[in-house]
Amino acid sequence: APRMIIAVDGPSGSGKSSVCRAAATHLGAGYLDTGAMYRAATWYCLDQQIDLDDEEAVAVAVEELPMNISTDPDHQVICVGSQDVTDAIREPRISEKVSEVATNRRARSLLVAAQRRIIDEAGFIVAEGRDITTVVAPDAQVRVLLTASAEARLRRRGAQLGGTQDAEALKKQVLERDKKDSAASNFTEAADGVAVLDSSDLTFQETVDSLIGRVQIAQ
Ligand code: C5P
Repeated sequence: APRMIIAVDGPSGSGKSSVCRAAATHLGAGYLDTGAMYRAATWYCLDQQIDLDDEEAVAVAVEELPMNISTDPDHQVICVGSQDVTDAIREPRISEKVSEVATNRRARSLLVAAQRRIIDEAGFIVAEGRDITTVVAPDAQVRVLLTASAEARLRRRGAQLGGTQDAEALKKQVLERDKKDSAASNFTEAADGVAVLDSSDLTFQETVDSLIGRVQIAQ
């Protein structure tokens, strides 16, 4: 396999995770969901009953966090110690608190270091998050900011949740997390050398194909 890093950033609901996973499978590359790492760190802090306002305590918890994440795009598993937290990290109680851990400077730098190790070990990998193109892997051969209009993102998030959620509540949730996240990193504008892929009017497959096309050009 080639040594190549494909870095993808974008807001929640941009379809990032499914697009990146499908592209990785097609390319035979690994896949890293860095958001899952922030979520697992949050799960651990809550499990340890750590006060998320206590910056020092959160940093210490993340330092000792026994996390293991799979880079197989077809078999996503994330464990904390011997506990499989793959499903638990998607619960609303985690989504509501994750920005608090993500804005902790020391926790961030520990997780960024862990992400760099995983990417380096994999060699050929699609890594996605909020700061992959800018901080984690600015030297990546392919750097993409995957965006979508607020309407498209809300539509997708709603469908993801089974369409059972109240539209106004959903909108508030998505926009609020955007706002909180923007304190940790700027993922709404493409940095120098980062290509924008706007998926608002593309189907899922068109978006995947566009990402794969960029990788093939870089290869
Ligand atoms: O991508 P996902 O929505 O699962 O990410 C969960 C949270 O993790 C984000 O809301 C953000 O607070 C944080 N995050 C981050 N930097 C990344 C990836 C995720 O701050 N590279």
